[in-house]
Amino acid sequence: MTDRLRLGVNIDHVATIRNARGGDHPDPLRAAQIAAAAGADGITAHLREDRRHITDDDIARLMGEIDLPLNLEMAATEEMLEIALRHRPHAACIVPEKREERTTEGGLDAAGMHDQLAAFVARLTAAGIRVSLFIEPDERQVEAALRLRAPVVEFHTGRFAHVDGDDRSAELKRIGDCAALAVKNGIEPHAGHGLTFANVVPVAAIPQLAELNIGHFLVGEAIFTGLEASIQRMRGLMDEAR
Ligand code: PXP
Repeated sequence: MTDRLRLGVNIDHVATIRNARGGDHPDPLRAAQIAAAAGADGITAHLREDRRHITDDDIARLMGEIDLPLNLEMAATEEMLEIALRHRPHAACIVPEKREERTTEGGLDAAGMHDQLAAFVARLTAAGIRVSLFIEPDERQVEAALRLRAPVVEFHTGRFAHVDGDDRSAELKRIGDCAALAVKNGIEPHAGHGLTFANVVPVAAIPQLAELNIGHFLVGEAIFTGLEASIQRMRGLMDEAR
């Protein structure tokens, strides 16, 4: 059991709003500062190939000016590898990326991409970056992460967030079983995607999970209550679940 469940606040969509007008407001760096004050344990940002939200300059500023650990989400491309090796964030979460998708729609096929990912994980690890693989809660993928020597996996909770009833219970069980399998094999399990005030509690109650990464809902809710209040409420729900 990991007592304190860490909260990584994903600030991508602060940048989405900024980019809608092409200026510099709202600033994701300011959001990261507020997140830190509100109890976030880390900042997560996805530098996409098309730079639709976070930009290279945002990453440089986050690395230079924020004390919290940065979890850089990135596709397994040479361009992103070079950027990660230059900035050396605390962690790099490797995600699948399709140009036409609205968000990261599924987990990485760590099993099918072993050869491509092996060198990637090794180079990031050698640079002192903690590698996480964003995978579906599927035993085959956990076993593949183990073969790749990834110290962390993040389970994609998108399916859990989008189904109801028995399907949701089954998905929650898959996440719990895979979290237990990961811990048994020395891998630290995280989870994220699509988490909200309404659905976070059963995920946060999975005792093996060490971290949740949450973004879109927190930024959306911040429109109504402010970012600090939205993060604090999420933090409170996570703590109550433990
Ligand atoms: N974790 C990973 C690996 C992600 O790609 C994302 C979305 O960028 C999240 C967590 C956060 O998902 P959401 O924005 O739906 O909370």
